[in-house]
Amino acid sequence: MEFTLLRGNQELADAYNNHELSYTMNGGSPDLREEIAKLYGPNINAENILVFPGAQVALQTAAIALTNGHTHSIVFNPAYQSTQEAPVHAGSQVTKIALKAVNNWQIDPRGIRENTRYLVINEPHNPAGTLMSPVLQMQLKTLAEKHGIYILSDEVYRFLEHDESDRLPAMADLYQKGISAVTISKPWGGCGITIGWLAFRDLSI
Ligand SMILES: Cc1ncc(COP(=O)(O)O)c(C=O)c1O
Repeated sequence: MEFTLLRGNQELADAYNNHELSYTMNGGSPDLREEIAKLYGPNINAENILVFPGAQVALQTAAIALTNGHTHSIVFNPAYQSTQEAPVHAGSQVTKIALKAVNNWQIDPRGIRENTRYLVINEPHNPAGTLMSPVLQMQLKTLAEKHGIYILSDEVYRFLEHDESDRLPAMADLYQKGISAVTISKPWGGCGITIGWLAFRDLSI
């Protein structure tokens, strides 16, 4: 069946009509994963991308994969609810650290325990709209590296910085145990498409 709404843009119509629309591989169709991987540096290829029905599902899945009742996670508050609650739903021990307006909502990672395995950040931050500095991002990476902690970085507002020069590197590019969570919903304005993904280097996850 031809999809007539795409008439007028032959290239797009051909791409749609020739695209396999049966069940896709687990992890998303290879052409989409290849396209997404182009947003990242040389360490991220199609195999390092997993596609989900939106970032919210990606956040839940990452927490279930990386945490359990024996491990400890650190999250920040206020935050988009799923970033805080996904490790709770996964059964992890969770420390919620309060972000404060007097500190311009900047994170101050503390409370690391021997069994801390997971730390969740969201930059640019929902709801504050703030962004951490590259220096703080590097400090966080160094700290996480020292303690063997995975950093889940919710980057759904990345590419929407007021000033492009403030854009932080994707955590998946920066850190071996970094995971970037992204969605078509925000910079591409495609919430109805319900496509999100995780980008990560550590394929042992
Ligand atoms: C910070 C943050 N993460 C994740 C999501 C969820 O994205 P999606 O619409 O792809 O499930 C949102 C949606 O508002 C969000 O604000």
